[in-house]
Amino acid sequence: MRRVASLYRSSVGKKILMAASGLLLFGFIVGHMAGNLKLLQGADAFNAYGVFLREFGYPILPKYGFLWLFRILLLGAVVLHFVSAFQLWSASNRARGTSKYGKKQSLSFSYASQTMRWGGVILLLFIVYHLLHLTTGQAHPDFIYGDIYHNYVVAFRSPLVLGFYLLAQAALCLHLYHGLWSATQTLGASHPKYNAMRRPISLGFAVVIFVGFMIPPFLVFAGVVGGSVA
Ligand code: HEM
Repeated sequence: MRRVASLYRSSVGKKILMAASGLLLFGFIVGHMAGNLKLLQGADAFNAYGVFLREFGYPILPKYGFLWLFRILLLGAVVLHFVSAFQLWSASNRARGTSKYGKKQSLSFSYASQTMRWGGVILLLFIVYHLLHLTTGQAHPDFIYGDIYHNYVVAFRSPLVLGFYLLAQAALCLHLYHGLWSATQTLGASHPKYNAMRRPISLGFAVVIFVGFMIPPFLVFAGVVGGSVA
């Protein structure tokens, strides 16, 4: 137990925690993007998928039991990711303040770390809006509980909403690009044999996620999908 606590207090431990929680969130994002593509199969398939997500494990578990366990796990991962990022950032600020090479370091570090920091804050704000928009409905103009196809189609007929999601997914894409590259380094994939591949592979995943998330909203906006919704 002591070893775990002292590993957590070290910056290596915090980086491992950031990388592990980040990879868990990445797994959710891949699944969520693939699930959203079901929209292209029509209202019944997409709504059935929504029921499956909400009631997974029932009747062995209580009706929304798995959903709540999963939400708690996701929230835990977001908190761990955010708190360890903040602690690493303030530790590196303190260290830079005392280093005579501080200025030089800040030039090379600043671009990626600033993008990660601001990207992370934008993503947090996006998640809050997104939950109020498509899960609980307070930020939606015509929300029908359980009819996720209707909610989705109505939402993306608005150019403002489409634009906002586009910006948020672009921020996610940048965050994933750098995050995947850095998580693979922390978790030991930094090896001369693989190093040249880590950047293009991270970029490839980030771009696939961006395109996969944005195809259905654009098709809705263009009127290709969702014509059955009044
Ligand atoms: C174009 C982008 C996206 C679209 C169209 C979209 C769509 C949706 C929809 C329709 C739901 C409701 C599903 C239901 O109630 O059964 C949902 C829930 C959710 N989305 Fe997204 N999503 C997008 C991107 C993201 C991203 C990037 C994240 C995370 C970084 C995210 C996190 C979540 C979470 C946490 C939920 C709630 C799951 C729950 O019920 O606990 N979404 N999304």
